[in-house]
Amino acid sequence: MADLFAKKSMESLMTEAHEEGTHSLQRSLGPVSLTMLGIGAVIGAGIFVLSGLGAHSAGPALMLAFVLSGLGCAFAGLCYAEFAAMIPLAGSAYTYAYATLGELFAWIIGWDLTLEYAMGASTVSSGWSNNFVEFLNIFGLRFPLWLAYDHWTGLRTALERVARASLATTRPDLHPGTMPFSDALAAIMAHPSAALSSQAHALLNAPQIFGVEIGFNLPAFIIALLITTILVIGIQESAKFNAGIVVMKLAIVLFVIGLGSHYVNRANWGTDWHSFAPFGVGGIGLAAGLVFFSYIGFDAVSTTAQEAINPQRDMPIGIIVSLSLCTVLYIGVAAVLTGMVPWQSINIEAPIVRAFLEYKVGWAANVVTIGSIAGLTSVMLVMLLGQSRVLYAMAKDGLLPRKFFGDIHPRFRTPWKGTILAGLLAAVVGSVTPIDDIGKMVNIGTLLAFVIVCIAVVMLRRTDPDRPRPFRAPLVWPVPVVPVLGVLFNGYMMFKLGPANWIRLIVWLVIGLVVYFTYSRKHSRVQRGLLPAEPVDHL
Ligand code: ALA
Repeated sequence: MADLFAKKSMESLMTEAHEEGTHSLQRSLGPVSLTMLGIGAVIGAGIFVLSGLGAHSAGPALMLAFVLSGLGCAFAGLCYAEFAAMIPLAGSAYTYAYATLGELFAWIIGWDLTLEYAMGASTVSSGWSNNFVEFLNIFGLRFPLWLAYDHWTGLRTALERVARASLATTRPDLHPGTMPFSDALAAIMAHPSAALSSQAHALLNAPQIFGVEIGFNLPAFIIALLITTILVIGIQESAKFNAGIVVMKLAIVLFVIGLGSHYVNRANWGTDWHSFAPFGVGGIGLAAGLVFFSYIGFDAVSTTAQEAINPQRDMPIGIIVSLSLCTVLYIGVAAVLTGMVPWQSINIEAPIVRAFLEYKVGWAANVVTIGSIAGLTSVMLVMLLGQSRVLYAMAKDGLLPRKFFGDIHPRFRTPWKGTILAGLLAAVVGSVTPIDDIGKMVNIGTLLAFVIVCIAVVMLRRTDPDRPRPFRAPLVWPVPVVPVLGVLFNGYMMFKLGPANWIRLIVWLVIGLVVYFTYSRKHSRVQRGLLPAEPVDHL
């Protein structure tokens, strides 16, 4: 029987890492580009949207929630940095698992990364579209609802609009954006009257095919395809495009902190622990889980390890600098937001935009909308970049069709077929499916990858202690503190995501196992003896 836990030998990984020529990826990224890619992937919808929900769970202690979530990511980030410097290949967590835990785990993690990267890009494309439609609204341009959302989300949005209008007349005492208002809105939407439902269908005004209403998120579809085109054209072009956007969004985040600090009223932060953290440590933990999405993406830097000029030195720089910078900025935004508006009144849908609108600085709100659009564009870019590199790495090992996903364009030096397929998948999923549930799967899928990478670091230190490690996650005595804390923090956040998300994750992994046993196992180059495996008793 083939060995399900066969491990790819470190020697074959090192040989791959030194491949050169027109059929291999191009090493052209330096420390600045890598850091920019990290920031490009991290700052996006999370900070501009989820901070509102986080504030309602933690109060002004939202700042601590960002610290907590950032710490979980930092532990995982240091482990990613250790691996990426040691094994500078495109597959990231997938490759690390292949070298330490064996093929089956590698497959599981590669399949799981699709949740983070391709589904993450789909989720973000849908968020991009929302912001884009808002942006057009600034100029009085209205996008038809049926072309701005998938069918189900379009209908829900139409229903939400008519329900809001109805609440405004029946409950004028409730303020939009607050928890009581959201609860009342949710109650109406859970059981809408026939009259509200028919008003919603009229508002949606969608064309029908064979009596079925159509919904297609056109902006999400187009942006995913545009980004795919840039990714196909080249890694340097992609990195430059990303860098331009990153400069713009960093400027906008600093602008939010700078201008927002003028409107801070210190009393809003509370005067003692109870007013600062009204829901205690539990509330801070809950908020940390909610805002975790805003940190996702720094790990995608490691998927470009095969395109870094000096991965041993620059991979740790890219991961650690981008993560640290984003953490500091996030804490700043959280402090400003909870200082500007009493936490009970912070808006849930668009917290920062609304905070500025409360102080009648509408132009600043528009700047934030532009920042969100820019932010989400680069998040999608790096997510799809990561996805195509993981597919490429899996194809090189024979776990996916090698000729298709492993094909490097001779001129552009990118895995173009895999990039186009991943982009198309993200475009289609983002434009025709309701994205909320997929978005939740992104968090749990990412956390699983973090936990496995932390475990893999510990295993490889035990089984191959003498392998040169250009970077080592600190605090190795008396136990490997960083990876252990990484498993605990990220495992805890996974646990907090609840049974529904666990079931989704398990279903996704079971589908992956079916693919593994029907295709990948038979084509695996390690199983067929085409790539050297570690001797079984060695690891
Ligand atoms: N961290 C990324 C965002 O917040 C995924 O959009």
